[in-house]
Amino acid sequence: MSPATVFERIGALRSWLEAHRVAGRRIGLVPTMGYLHAGHASLIRRARQECDIVVVSVFVNPTQFGPGEDYDRYPRDLEHDQALCEAEGADAIFAPPVVEMYPTGAPCTRVTVARVSEGLCGRSRPHHFAGVATVVTKLLNIVQPHRAYFGEKDYQQLAVIRTMVADLNLPVDIVGCPTVRESDGLAMSSRNSYLSPELRARAPAIYRALCAGRDAAQAGERSAGAIAARVKAALEPVPDAAVEYVEVVDAESLAPLQEVGGGAVIAVAVRLGGTRLIDNIAIKPVP
Ligand code: PAJ
Repeated sequence: MSPATVFERIGALRSWLEAHRVAGRRIGLVPTMGYLHAGHASLIRRARQECDIVVVSVFVNPTQFGPGEDYDRYPRDLEHDQALCEAEGADAIFAPPVVEMYPTGAPCTRVTVARVSEGLCGRSRPHHFAGVATVVTKLLNIVQPHRAYFGEKDYQQLAVIRTMVADLNLPVDIVGCPTVRESDGLAMSSRNSYLSPELRARAPAIYRALCAGRDAAQAGERSAGAIAARVKAALEPVPDAAVEYVEVVDAESLAPLQEVGGGAVIAVAVRLGGTRLIDNIAIKPVP
């Protein structure tokens, strides 16, 4: 376990990185909002395997939260995050204050990614992905990594970032990493800490419902509507669970499908009590 340098200032991080860049080292970036868990750790580990220098950013980005969302109460624990980063061998943590990232308040320039941002979570969170795309662009410009690591847990976010990087010819490889789950199947998320013990015990129903949908597809069900109905039916009996959406979409464009055949993903958002949880599962292409 080696110490990770914590940077709060863009200038200091850039000077430190410049020396490594000049020495020809490959730089990996893992963007996060902190309160790190084993899902984040898997991204850091992958970056550690593939890069010489690993930077983890820890920044609860205000521009991706809508009014009335959980920006103020989003969990924060930099000491814990630092310990996890060090245990996973990260070299540096970039943890800027809000004013360092947004010195003039809300930025005049925003990155919006049409189409792929609009369905699924984009429907109920209309400005969320512009906030994500804007802060990720800033982080990529600040760190200028060779590779940046994102989780498939946030499948739409990963698709938005891939689209943005391709459209704007940003010189970075985006690496998607598989979802890390608790032993009962619940996808790890910093927001799981909001769940009461009762709700936490019900939360694995989300993954079980996704598996039921995937299994139906693997057993030969081609109708996207029928697959989504299977998932909804599995969620219906769960007390205090309100389904926001269950959709079967193309794995790349995220366009809604009528029939599965090529690569597809079942994506869900469920409110459990007051906590909004998202998850997804791949449906393999029909051979
Ligand atoms: P955050 O929710 O902290 O997640 C940081 C990264 O960890 C994202 O790429 C996310 O997909 C990944 N991740 C979260 N839970 C995971 C799990 N269970 N398994 C695998 N990967 C997981 O996503 C964000 O922060 C922000 O939107 C950010 C990209 C940092 C921009 O502010």
